[in-house]
Amino acid sequence: MHPKELITQTFSQRFGKKPAYLALAPGRVNILGEHVDFNDGFVLPAAINRATYIAFSPADSDHTTLVAADFTEEVSFTLQSIPTKTSANGSPLPQWATYPAGVAWALTESGQPVAAMNAVFASDVPRGAGLSSSASVEMAFAIAWQTIGGWNLSPMQRAQIGQKAENKYVGVNCGIMDQFASACGVADKLLLLDCRSLDWKPVPIPQNVAIVIADTSIRRRLTDGAYNQRRQGCDDAVKILSHLLPNVRALRDVSVEDFNRLSSQLPALAEKRARHVVEEIERFQHGIPLLEQGKIHEFGQIMNECHTSLRDLYEVSIPELNTMVEIAQSLPGCLGARLTGAGFGGCTANLVEKSTAEAFSAELARQYEAQTGLKPEIYICKASDGARLL
Ligand code: GLA
Repeated sequence: MHPKELITQTFSQRFGKKPAYLALAPGRVNILGEHVDFNDGFVLPAAINRATYIAFSPADSDHTTLVAADFTEEVSFTLQSIPTKTSANGSPLPQWATYPAGVAWALTESGQPVAAMNAVFASDVPRGAGLSSSASVEMAFAIAWQTIGGWNLSPMQRAQIGQKAENKYVGVNCGIMDQFASACGVADKLLLLDCRSLDWKPVPIPQNVAIVIADTSIRRRLTDGAYNQRRQGCDDAVKILSHLLPNVRALRDVSVEDFNRLSSQLPALAEKRARHVVEEIERFQHGIPLLEQGKIHEFGQIMNECHTSLRDLYEVSIPELNTMVEIAQSLPGCLGARLTGAGFGGCTANLVEKSTAEAFSAELARQYEAQTGLKPEIYICKASDGARLL
């Protein structure tokens, strides 16, 4: 059943009347600029046509009751129980509930009144697949609380609330990219974001190009700590480099030239992590004009280089992602292929000549399954609008 139907039905069954509102918030795919958002770099995601859907109404009491229709689980919490990550009856919140509770917490912290609601949510963004299922849950709830609270934050402000929830409540030190893409998505466009100034603009997807998402079917959990450890490597490098160079606040401020000159001063692991970031930011600066000039083969080459760097320097790839990328890169019509999102499992993003996209997808699935014994899910993605009421 489609999540929109599932939440509407489940809401009526559970709460005995129709929901007052429906909303959705999409997942995202990222095309270039990986693991650079928390280094003040640049990213190029798109919101995708898979989303978290939420049905909701204001509650009659001070209890917020949430049903996760995908898990057939339910939880109630109050504004008093949120800070201790417990439900109204004192038991610890299940992991899935920390995203909505985290958003409520972050809203309260920033002075937005959070009214209690009854809600049911469900998603067709696969979890742990690098497509930002958690950010889409956060942004769906931000819309819901905004709607029943009667206040109005901009999409970027809602994204910042989501990031704060994730950093300070869930415990993942992520950047702004995922929440930004889910909140600010534009149909048929990529989104170019400067993660320092938060200036952004939509960038057209060249007409003859399709984005194909290829899911290895391997899942990861972001909270595992591997993400935070990689980020720590970057922070360690910044600490040292900021003593050696003037005005270094983030790896964004270090040129490849300076980095090469000073890299021997860094511990080996921090050097590798930071090299990925510094070079990825340079690749990005080089890649965007190519994309804008329609030089899609050259742009695709830069995506391929990004994958190599994520594999060898940032070390967030896994054998299945490498296999998916290698097969893709060998197929006719493929412009560029790389893992997308945090890594450690999940999906690859492929830029493909539109006329070959169907054949490319079928052949990629066939060869991946033959080599790994795993059944992948491969689909042509449609860049979509951001989180909104339906
Ligand atoms: C995760 C994080 C993002 C970003 C990517 C890697 O999706 O949530 O902030 O760091 O990994 O680019």
